[in-house]
Amino acid sequence: MYKSVVIVGSNGGIGSGLIHEIHRQMPDVIIHALARKKINTPLTNVIDYCVDFEQESAIAEVRDQIIAHGAIDCMIVATGILHNASVKPEKTLRQLNYQQLQTIFATNTFLPVIIAKHFIPHLSQEINSVFCVLSARVGSISDNHLGGWYAYRASKAALNMLIKTASIETARTNKKAIIAGLHPGTVETRLSQPFLARVDQDKYFSTEKAAKQLLQVISKLNIDDTGLVFDWKGEQVEP
Ligand SMILES: NC(=O)c1ccc[n+]([C@@H]2O[C@H](COP(=O)([O-])OP(=O)(O)OC[C@H]3O[C@@H](n4cnc5c(N)ncnc54)[C@H](OP(=O)(O)O)[C@@H]3O)[C@@H](O)[C@H]2O)c1
Repeated sequence: MYKSVVIVGSNGGIGSGLIHEIHRQMPDVIIHALARKKINTPLTNVIDYCVDFEQESAIAEVRDQIIAHGAIDCMIVATGILHNASVKPEKTLRQLNYQQLQTIFATNTFLPVIIAKHFIPHLSQEINSVFCVLSARVGSISDNHLGGWYAYRASKAALNMLIKTASIETARTNKKAIIAGLHPGTVETRLSQPFLARVDQDKYFSTEKAAKQLLQVISKLNIDDTGLVFDWKGEQVEP
């Protein structure tokens, strides 16, 4: 049973689903909830932080506040972007530009690895601690049969490489820490909203169901799984 859990992206669809499900399953755990805006939750075991993730010093500052409570048992980075007002997933090379690529990579790839830099050294060495990042199946090179979504796919493929690399380094100093990527399936959130009309209703999940499934997968991870990416069923997503 965990004592200290950290969720990054606590105001996102999957992030907030995870907070509610962790609260339901583990009412005594301290949940550190990080986002660009406070979530102002009534849940009494949640500590709410507002973080300017563009400033590495702000990430270090919140890390220090969190580890003052003790080592971290489970951390889930649930931030990510597929589109915003100025960025849309590209259907063709002609639609690529520097600004689009930089925006997607900054959020999906650079942010999780800078968070990993600051938090992985503080994972518990007493139990099988976990540092998970929300990735996506479309980041699998071997599974890419459709093309398109250049920046998003590539940002997640690069993220998966960073997870693997961090897992190798971490294994040298913390034999109990598991570093993994997670594919949540298609989940009804702000991120997937523009694309759901094309998906059969029985092929996507509510945030509650997605959170339950992801926590179930995390609970079954063991040290041999470090460095890998798993889907919501617990099956490995091939690189
Ligand atoms: N939903 C799906 O079907 C699906 C499928 C596969 C993978 N995923 C992955 O799951 C993760 C969570 O997505 P979601 O579906 O929960 O999306 P969401 O509801 O849009 O939540 C995205 C979260 O990321 C945060 N975020 C976005 N840009 C950020 C930035 N530059 N700096 C800091 N935080 C930022 C958002 O915070 P703000 O509110 O401050 O913007 C929000 O907390 C993503 O990594 C996504 O790629 C989702």
